[in-house]
Amino acid sequence: MSGISFHINNLFKRPGEGANTRFLDLEAAEKARGFHATFKEYQRTPFIPLPNLARHLGIGQLFIKDESYRFGLNAFKVLGASYAIAQYLAHMLGRDVSEVSGEKLRSPYLRKKLGKITFATATDGNHGRAVAWTAQQLGQRSVVYMPKGSDPVRLENIRVHGAEASITEFNYDETVRMTFQVAQDNGWVVVQDTAWPGYEDIPRWIMQGYTTLALEFMEQLQEQGIYCPTHIFLQAGVGSFAASVLGFLASYLGDDLPATVIVEPDTANCIYRSAKIDNGKPHAVKGDLKTIMAGLACGEPNIIGWEILRDYARAYVSCPDWVAANGMRILAAPLRGDTPIISGESGAVTCGVLEQLMVNPDYAEIRAAIGLNSKSVVVLISTEGDTSPPTYRDIVWYGKHSPFSSNLSQS
Ligand SMILES: Cc1ncc(COP(=O)(O)O)c(C=O)c1O
Repeated sequence: MSGISFHINNLFKRPGEGANTRFLDLEAAEKARGFHATFKEYQRTPFIPLPNLARHLGIGQLFIKDESYRFGLNAFKVLGASYAIAQYLAHMLGRDVSEVSGEKLRSPYLRKKLGKITFATATDGNHGRAVAWTAQQLGQRSVVYMPKGSDPVRLENIRVHGAEASITEFNYDETVRMTFQVAQDNGWVVVQDTAWPGYEDIPRWIMQGYTTLALEFMEQLQEQGIYCPTHIFLQAGVGSFAASVLGFLASYLGDDLPATVIVEPDTANCIYRSAKIDNGKPHAVKGDLKTIMAGLACGEPNIIGWEILRDYARAYVSCPDWVAANGMRILAAPLRGDTPIISGESGAVTCGVLEQLMVNPDYAEIRAAIGLNSKSVVVLISTEGDTSPPTYRDIVWYGKHSPFSSNLSQS
């Protein structure tokens, strides 16, 4: 059975002494949440304690933020897409985003002023669904391209929101480049959840949008009398999500920043590899990026996010698919007394890593290096539910991607 690789960041910096996180501070998060709260679908997603699993693993407390409840869309991604599109439209109108709301942006008056806009994106599924949903809500048009091998169920979930969506012949990063080309030729606006030199406003707004969930779980934790977690595990594709949560926590908590562990699939581990190469720069992973963790199958780090992850994360993890599958099964069939959680492949991988880290004797040194012990308060974020129900059943019901058969081919 193939194992999990860890890389400890011995050079992590104190908040404020490394990458800039001011754009993800409390004020930015409150502004983003203020916009999200203008949608009738908005409510805080559940923050679920799993005391029996925590005891079993030998940690103090464990909480899971369940993003499958977000806006009825089964994933957290709409927080980013909706906020970036709102920021873009507010800029077009010469207003601050705090002056617009979902309702105002879909009003006939503002729609006439804005004209018909097409928002385009490349996506594994969740982000495309989020862009399509937002465009539909605001009476605009969307075009979505998915990488080769994308799940037809996820494609349909995007089309349901009125998007013109299709699966391409390219991997994720190539699909992003193609999307830009087609958008440029047609005068569309690209809403991409990753940044590179010259394309930074929209990804920065997307990252600000994600801070809503971090603000929520800090409130939810504090309502239980706990000031902050000691540890947080964040899954990464391009790293925008992980960096936005870590950046928010760094600016909000300063020296109380929890030890943060970044988790990726071993076939698309661009953050892990960049950290290991250790020359301060982001490095890409090429190839098909084949993994069941569709949301994390990205080979090129977001350049803004990378700097935050490089400076403030405590450890990086690269893991095979069976770890994510285990996380899904553990959350679906918990210990007696704990609440079951429907978590998809990208959502559950951090739970799979935490379980192995705590129960596998081979990882005792890693546990000690990051200070995980019986006093730890750990937060995980289940970033998606069963975004592909047939795949979810194959894994959770029929045991696909089991650690005991991980050397067999299970495509
Ligand atoms: C469910 C899920 N979790 C996590 C991520 C990772 O986000 P990022 O690409 O910003 O690292 C994604 C990205 O699409 C996702 O869909």
